[in-house]
Amino acid sequence: MAATETPSITSERPALEQGVRDIGLFLRQAFHTFRATGAVAPSGPALSNALTRFLDERADPNAGMSILEAGAGTGPVSRAVAARMREGDTADLVESNAEFASYLSDLTTTDPALSRVADQLTVHQALVTDLGTDRSYDLIISGLPFANFTAEEVREIFEYYFTVLRPGGHLSFFGYLYTKEVKAVIAPREEYLRQARSSWVVEEWVNRYGIGSERILPNIPPAWIHHLRKPVEE
Ligand SMILES: C[S@@+](CC[C@H](N)C(=O)[O-])C[C@H]1O[C@@H](n2cnc3c(N)ncnc32)[C@H](O)[C@@H]1O
Repeated sequence: MAATETPSITSERPALEQGVRDIGLFLRQAFHTFRATGAVAPSGPALSNALTRFLDERADPNAGMSILEAGAGTGPVSRAVAARMREGDTADLVESNAEFASYLSDLTTTDPALSRVADQLTVHQALVTDLGTDRSYDLIISGLPFANFTAEEVREIFEYYFTVLRPGGHLSFFGYLYTKEVKAVIAPREEYLRQARSSWVVEEWVNRYGIGSERILPNIPPAWIHHLRKPVEE
């Protein structure tokens, strides 16, 4: 995808109008595919920016970084990533939902942050685990809704991430606060137990590789982030 030299009329579309379009599409998809979408709104700026911590704190400021974003949705985190990308960086933006993936592809030519680095981005419409293991990343940012998945699905995804993550590389991922507590009150017992089991798998990986956690309250809904690091030697 070639970067546009001059901003097009669409790239000057006010941010507010763009935000309304993002939310409209997100809500429609959440309504039809809530299990995979796993949220009621795109991530806000505080959450999106906090997820890019390891682009701001680069291990080697002179080396290009290879980045994977899993579950890019309508692209709020992709934009925060793109705004921090430098020459030599590349990013794979992966999204399983065809509507979101096509929207995201369009944004790589119309959105100012994404179009600036369009020739360094690849949008994949795929399940992240279908990307294959013949690739490697310095940073993985995951927006996948683990709370909606089974424990087996969560384990498969973490195993994939730690296969394609380079030694010393980072994984940052998020979820929403208090979902388990809410489900304990309102969800059928089986559904509560499914989420509890998948959250134990998440905890297992956090306990093994976690290097920091954050709470992002100014987000709808409020969120947590975990940052993990793959050891250089295991
Ligand atoms: C909670 S939304 C996050 C969207 C966006 N990153 C944000 O922060 O607003 C999760 C996204 O992951 C996508 N998704 C779910 N399972 C996926 C998978 N296995 N591989 C790739 N994308 C997936 C959904 O379609 C949805 O867009």
